[in-house]
Amino acid sequence: MSDSSPNLDIESGRQALGGARRIIVLTGAGISADSGVPTFRGPGGLWKDHRPEDLATPGAFARDPRLVWEWYGCRRTLVAQCEPSVAHLALARWAAGRDGIRIITQNVDGLHAEAARRCARKRQLAPAGTSERTPAQDAGAVLELHGSLFRTRCPGCGASRESRESIDATSEATLPRCDRCGTTLRPDVVWFGESLDSQVLERSFELAEQAGACLVVGTSGVVQPAASIASVSARAGAVIVEVNPEPTPITKLADVSLRGRAAEIVPELV
Ligand code: OAD
Repeated sequence: MSDSSPNLDIESGRQALGGARRIIVLTGAGISADSGVPTFRGPGGLWKDHRPEDLATPGAFARDPRLVWEWYGCRRTLVAQCEPSVAHLALARWAAGRDGIRIITQNVDGLHAEAARRCARKRQLAPAGTSERTPAQDAGAVLELHGSLFRTRCPGCGASRESRESIDATSEATLPRCDRCGTTLRPDVVWFGESLDSQVLERSFELAEQAGACLVVGTSGVVQPAASIASVSARAGAVIVEVNPEPTPITKLADVSLRGRAAEIVPELV
């Protein structure tokens, strides 16, 4: 950042992003707060009432898979009822309509992917001649750093698959099992003490180094390695634009810091 007082105006944010050929968008739980998905930290955050070590570690799953699935089952049910916010939709339209924009998210709620699907469907319904897939759409898959609530993974054989059915966590016997080897499946999310998917992580850092701008939306910026994506971009010379109602450790890197909710600011910004 150039000085200690970040720029607070949306037009400066637009100009900063408009000047870059390659842009990454790093998002966190705050972007989904406007869709009704609870964040992790702050008032009402999931980690206020629950201990991560009881629910989101390999040890917790080994000790009590039923309890872990009960919690993830509840989260799946809640998130399945949530819709992408205007911020998810604006980012999806932006990424689909322009080359060189990639969304990297820490969220496991699938709302960026859902927004992209809706955006693609709308484009298919557009008048003839306007519905071809652009290179931006083909390259535009969202990079999900922390996995997905709607995927399961087999700790036995490693098979991973999409899964949207509701979870019966009444007993260990009713938990989902692997079709191939019978092992109790786990949610395909990254737990504390685990490594992120190396391909997703490497690609994210590669994009961070190449980006001319990095838009950071709704993350507390305290969980590594995701948080250092913004600092890698900043070190490589990218402009950093942050959208968050609160200051975060990323604010000191930001050239433009926009204080407010993602749903208010992002559609105007992009
Ligand atoms: P946090 O819950 O740590 O932070 C949410 C951020 O969103 C805070 O900085 C809020 O100020 C901001 N925020 C709240 N409402 C907002 C809104 N309407 N618009 C914009 N911003 C808003 O969530 P993350 O930073 O995503 O990891 O947390 C990172 C990781 O910690 C998560 O992916 C999860 C968690 O433990 C795993 O489970 C591996």
